[in-house]
Amino acid sequence: MNKRNILITGGAGFIGSHVVRLFVNKYPNYRIVNLDVLTYAGNLANLKDIENAPNYIFEKADICDFDNMLRIFEKYRIDSVIHLAAESHVDRSIKDPFSFARTNVMGTLSLLEAARGSWLSQPQSPKRKTQTSNLFYHISTDEVYGELKFDNTLFTEETKYDPHSPYSASKASSDHFVRAYKDTYNLPIVISNCSNNYGSYQFPEKLIPLFINNIRNNKPLPVYGKGENVRDWLYVEDHARAIDTIFHKGKSGETYNIGGFNEWKNIDLIKVIIRTVDKLLGREEGASEKLITYVTDRAGHDLRYAIDSSKLKNELGWEPSLQFEEGIEKTVRWYLENQDWLDNVTSGDYQKYYEKMYG
Ligand code: NAD
Ligand code: DAU
Repeated sequence: MNKRNILITGGAGFIGSHVVRLFVNKYPNYRIVNLDVLTYAGNLANLKDIENAPNYIFEKADICDFDNMLRIFEKYRIDSVIHLAAESHVDRSIKDPFSFARTNVMGTLSLLEAARGSWLSQPQSPKRKTQTSNLFYHISTDEVYGELKFDNTLFTEETKYDPHSPYSASKASSDHFVRAYKDTYNLPIVISNCSNNYGSYQFPEKLIPLFINNIRNNKPLPVYGKGENVRDWLYVEDHARAIDTIFHKGKSGETYNIGGFNEWKNIDLIKVIIRTVDKLLGREEGASEKLITYVTDRAGHDLRYAIDSSKLKNELGWEPSLQFEEGIEKTVRWYLENQDWLDNVTSGDYQKYYEKMYG
């Protein structure tokens, strides 16, 4: 197997940590450089099991720092990038849109420029060919497509962009920049747009870990609006496998949608979570439904997301591996068994972990 030097950004976050773990374990010949600035959402404790692996390196850095990105590309002779670093929570983007434009747009641009400078730096025409191993793989979201009605339609790779939140607008903008670098500079790129992920190590501000934690602690469950919005849920390890497949087999310049064919109305999903937590805690199943509290709806709340991932299945052979019932039980069990992790990330104590590990 070829040696490669792969930069994974945002590898201390939820999805990034699963991608880093998969690549470090599966590809001992690859050098994996995990670059993360460690915001509130980044936690090195997510990667404890692989932190001493010989093919793993951690770099604490901000993707917006272009000079440092260039330095890191040169230092590790980076040949490809899997770019996950982002501000990722819609509610935060409503309160603080600037930080989303900064990280998601300017940060992506800074990485694209570093890749261009490093891979296309010779004084030839901008259309000079890169090496076959060069790839800028940008991880995006289905939210760039806007919202679907309550019908049978699905987002495909051809669906027109129509973002509604500052988060999805910033992700859409970054997708456009990535495609512009293909068209203008011939940078080898690939993009995937994924639906909602669930699983271990997700920061407990997102629906599933927040609600598991609140049920456990008998705290109110704030359901936005009437709880009728629909999301398409995918187990995070299946997303990581899809990223592996696209990274190795995807066609340069293409976009792939990733989804679970697994739509749930929020309130129905919440009731499944409640029953699962109640069961695992030995409470009467459904008893915690009393915690459901309907609150003011999220501004610009998209009605429904649902992904058609048949291109990825037909062309590259990827399919979700886990049934939702199994995935959600595994997930609930993980959060209940990892109360220390939850306590650390909610108290901010995990920030001290970095100091201890890396000085
Ligand atoms: P997350 O918020 O859990 O993690 C983001 C990571 O990026 C953190 O480790 C954080 O420290 C790091 N980061 C933030 N700003 C940075 C900066 N300026 N420089 C370096 N690192 C920085 O996010 P996630 O849920 O794991 O999402 C990862 C990616 O996948 C994002 O690009 C997101 O848009 C996309 N995505 C997420 C989902 C989902 O359901 N969570 C679905 C589809 C796509
Ligand atoms: O679709 C992919 C996207 O999924 C990713 O790009 C985002 O990074 C990720 O955060 C996620 O976005 P959502 O906004 O769909 O996820 P969230 O967990 O915040 O909310 C899921 C649904 O639950 C949504 O309809 C809003 C609702 N909700 C959420 C929270 C946090 C509530 O009703 N109450 C809540 O407290």
